[in-house]
Amino acid sequence: MDDLVSLCKRRGFIFQSGEIYGGMQGMYDFGPLGVELKNNLKQAWWSSMIYENDNIEGLDAAILSNPTVLRYSGHEDTFSDPMVDCKSCKSRWRSDLLQNNKCPGCGSSDLTEPRPFNLMFKTNIGPIDDGETFGYLRPETAQSIFTNFKNVVDSSSKSLPFGIAQIGKAFRNEITPRNFIFRVREFEQMELEFFVVPGTDEEWHKKWVDMRLLWWEQQGISSENIELYDVPKDELAHYSKGTIDVMYKFPHGLEELEGIANRTDFDLGSHSKKQDELNITANVMKNNSSNTRLAIQDQNTNEWVVPYVIEPSAGVERGILAIMNEAYNVEQLENGKERTVLKLKPHLSPIKAAVIPLKKNNEELVALASEVKNSLQKLNLGRIILENTGNIGKGYRRHDEIGTPLCITIDFDSLENKTATIRDRDSMEQEVVAINELQNYLIKKING
Ligand code: GAP
Repeated sequence: MDDLVSLCKRRGFIFQSGEIYGGMQGMYDFGPLGVELKNNLKQAWWSSMIYENDNIEGLDAAILSNPTVLRYSGHEDTFSDPMVDCKSCKSRWRSDLLQNNKCPGCGSSDLTEPRPFNLMFKTNIGPIDDGETFGYLRPETAQSIFTNFKNVVDSSSKSLPFGIAQIGKAFRNEITPRNFIFRVREFEQMELEFFVVPGTDEEWHKKWVDMRLLWWEQQGISSENIELYDVPKDELAHYSKGTIDVMYKFPHGLEELEGIANRTDFDLGSHSKKQDELNITANVMKNNSSNTRLAIQDQNTNEWVVPYVIEPSAGVERGILAIMNEAYNVEQLENGKERTVLKLKPHLSPIKAAVIPLKKNNEELVALASEVKNSLQKLNLGRIILENTGNIGKGYRRHDEIGTPLCITIDFDSLENKTATIRDRDSMEQEVVAINELQNYLIKKING
């Protein structure tokens, strides 16, 4: 973990938030390379969900949440972790994560009884801080998918089974944030709520577990480092009938990367109940002859049903930690030296190619290198950079370390023959390629 954290800071992937003022626990900022990697991972998820499935729609809803939503979702009452105080050193800990019931800070066993601590961040809304006009920073993106259920159904004419997917920030006031970006207070989730006919939920649950495992493999996670954990009944979240956690061997141990839950009709049912209580007759009732508001007509039976929900929910930060851990390699070279190389899948690499003129500031070389950079950038595959440092060896080392799949050198032969030398990150082999073939070469490399 230390090597990864150090690389992340040194090369500009991830920084402690507010570091110049001593930092804030459980908060991290993504730097120039981190933001590219994060966007690439989110794009891979979005494409696999929405562009590859005509029955899944996207959503980007507000982060500030109405407390009523989180009351009826059960979060106000149950979204808590058990907390203890150490009477000796006055620190606070999650009691379920303690070893031998001892304070991890000072080793004392003199702890208070565990008590529930609600993880939601509350914030004042509007100019008057009267304690009543407040909202929560959402603790999961899922609830706004449920509250928009009817809006999406009515505006996109969906029928079961179908899904609504969202990527966005979630906030949890974790008692003990730790292990770098693994457990933080502000993070992003990639969540799909997949609505199915009740009775078909268990079959869909299995299908989504398989599909999500395949997707993680496509992001470079080796199946050897993954285990499935069938969450026991007494550990299930309040909304879940069954959850399979995708566990990854993180540098600090085997922990949850993604949870895939069968949320049944808990959320839609619960919000419907509230709509009934408020006697809301807005357009949610349109075409709905049943009492139940957040329902949909089953195409086969014409019955109004409250669908069951299968929810694959993954954390972006945990995904990035796992992907970087997989990609991080230190290799022994034949010349006795070693190189650090980040063998990221090319579609995730923050920089897709570096174009390097052999000689720094040589007008002709730099002009041709700029031309090459611009023509590759136009492909819109991600960031291409022109590296006008004149030190090829140093350039290779830096780009190995940040996971750039290709370095393209423009030398004096390039001026004459219109060729460039491509150096492959993983094999370190070099190949001379016609400049007018570079676009195809890069497309093939990135898209596989
Ligand atoms: N909507 C369901 C839900 O939120 P969860 O298991 O609490 O379920 C889903 O969270 C995923 O969000 C987790 O598998 C994890 O990847 C990520 N996650 C949860 N809490 C996190 C935290 N404090 N820091 C980073 N990621 C977190």
